[in-house]
Amino acid sequence: MTNLKISGTFSLGGRKVTRLGYGAMQLAGPGVFGPPKDRAGALAVLREAVAAGVDHIDTSDFYGPHITNQLIREALHPYAKDLVIVTKVGATRGADASWNPAQSPAQLTQAVHDNLRNLGLDVLDVVNLRVMGDVHAPSEGSIEEQFTALAQLQQQGLIRHLGLSNVTSTQVAEAQRIAEVVCVQNHYNLVHRHDDALLDELGEKGIAYVPFFPLGGFTPLQSETLSKVAQGLDATPMQVALAWLLARAPNMLLIPGTSSTAHLKENLAAAELVLADDVLAELEAIGQKKG
Ligand SMILES: NC(=O)c1ccc[n+]([C@@H]2O[C@H](COP(=O)([O-])OP(=O)(O)OC[C@H]3O[C@@H](n4cnc5c(N)ncnc54)[C@H](OP(=O)(O)O)[C@@H]3O)[C@@H](O)[C@H]2O)c1
Repeated sequence: MTNLKISGTFSLGGRKVTRLGYGAMQLAGPGVFGPPKDRAGALAVLREAVAAGVDHIDTSDFYGPHITNQLIREALHPYAKDLVIVTKVGATRGADASWNPAQSPAQLTQAVHDNLRNLGLDVLDVVNLRVMGDVHAPSEGSIEEQFTALAQLQQQGLIRHLGLSNVTSTQVAEAQRIAEVVCVQNHYNLVHRHDDALLDELGEKGIAYVPFFPLGGFTPLQSETLSKVAQGLDATPMQVALAWLLARAPNMLLIPGTSSTAHLKENLAAAELVLADDVLAELEAIGQKKG
């Protein structure tokens, strides 16, 4: 079994977690909507992740909606003491599977209660405010009202720690004036490098950076260089993409998503894959061409 600790740990909400975690979004049905095709398989992925040493799972009550959290509860409740479950609020799903902003204080409060109920918890470990100014990429605009609402729920004891998702550096600074920010979850991977500066800035502040779409998301990464490097290392392209992220910065925490136990094991094995400097330089060039 892979020794996940080999790639180190980083602080996430006052607890040290292994840098390779698991993102649960892929467990819902197609388009992250409705129940999974293989419910037993989805439960098995979650149990396998924790059995393999994963102590950081990323989720949201808008995956499904509700379904992913209900699967996590069924598979893993009562939760291991060292498991950190990070959820996010700020959107709802339409009957047509659309993703719609839900950022008013009342909607955020409702979302926190939905997460508590569906995960079977009295307090949520970490809640990310998923900013929806531009659904697909960060865009400037005040998040004071939303983050203040979550800070109030934290003060009421419903949330231990707060994070942000889909945000700019200015928004991180604005949020930090309201409450502590323990993590930022933005789109980042080997070919999508818009956040290089923010990642380094957060590292200096000791804040975890947790990229979504670490493997490219709905369209997994494809690159000739990546495939060639992987072949030379007797690894898979996805393992190399994850190992590159781990090497990129110590505050990088990974949550690759999968609905397959075979892919889960493959992804976790990336914790043991060390990339030499010349390989890192070769991979770096991919991002400079496309990022
Ligand atoms: N904050 C946000 O706005 C936001 C947005 C998106 C996602 N997220 C979070 O980030 C997590 C990660 O993102 P993601 O799951 O969307 O994308 P991802 O981790 O980049 O990629 C997942 C995709 O890669 C495939 N895959 C996984 N491992 C593979 C392997 N070893 N070989 C080949 N294909 C593989 C998966 O298919 P299989 O199921 O077939 O393995 C799935 O199609 C999510 O689970 C979610 O928790 C957050």
